[in-house]
Amino acid sequence: MRSLLFLHFLLFLHAITSFSIAWGQFVVDGRVIELNESNIDEAISTFDYIFIDFYAPWCGHCMRLNPELDKAAPILAGLKNPVIVAKVDADKYKSLSNKHNIEAFPTLKLFIHGVPTKYYGPRKFDTLVQHLKKYSAPDVAILNADSGVAEFVEEAGIEFPVFIGFNVKESMISNLAIKYKKEAWFSVAEDFSEEWMSLYDFDKVPALVGLRPSDSEKSLFYGPFEGTMFKYNS
Ligand SMILES: *[C@@H]1O[C@H](CO)[C@@H](O)[C@H](O)[C@H]1NC(C)=O
Repeated sequence: MRSLLFLHFLLFLHAITSFSIAWGQFVVDGRVIELNESNIDEAISTFDYIFIDFYAPWCGHCMRLNPELDKAAPILAGLKNPVIVAKVDADKYKSLSNKHNIEAFPTLKLFIHGVPTKYYGPRKFDTLVQHLKKYSAPDVAILNADSGVAEFVEEAGIEFPVFIGFNVKESMISNLAIKYKKEAWFSVAEDFSEEWMSLYDFDKVPALVGLRPSDSEKSLFYGPFEGTMFKYNS
């Protein structure tokens, strides 16, 4: 059942991500962009989020990664914060390999506003998409109305725990959100109806609701949160 739903989801995504946009000197059409030493710097500065596969043509792990990147690229390009997928033959372009400290193939890096982070996450396209989507999202999402909460939970999917702070100030959870940016979703809701209180079982605010969608677990913390250090076991 779940896999069928997932297939529908993919078809839907495919339908909404068939596009082609000129972006600086690059064409974004959902395909992996092949870079070289004359345009990689330009690519890194053009795109806010660019995921680069530094590969060698003879490497088996790299070859197995290719179809996963091909499937992930159109989905990632269609995100609210698009992540562009690119690759570069780091065996051929030795100067690039030195500049980016490539010691093994493939090396995967996500550049966020030009700043690289090595990616050690899963390489199957669906989980890869979930992880890159998490990395490129704002630290804390600000939710303003009921639909905001519903959308946020839906968008987050089931790969990571989801935290929603009802009437929790952003500053109270931003440290936590930065620390666990790659492992959980964080949001604050400032404006919501009592239905959420009964749905998530809290009767006062500020309240931080933690959801672990993969196994339907829920946890609840009540404020005030000033000076509180949350412990979060991933
Ligand atoms: C790099 O790629 C661009 C775009 O495909 C191409 O025009 C250019 O000739 C390539 N440069 C080198 C050094 O291969």
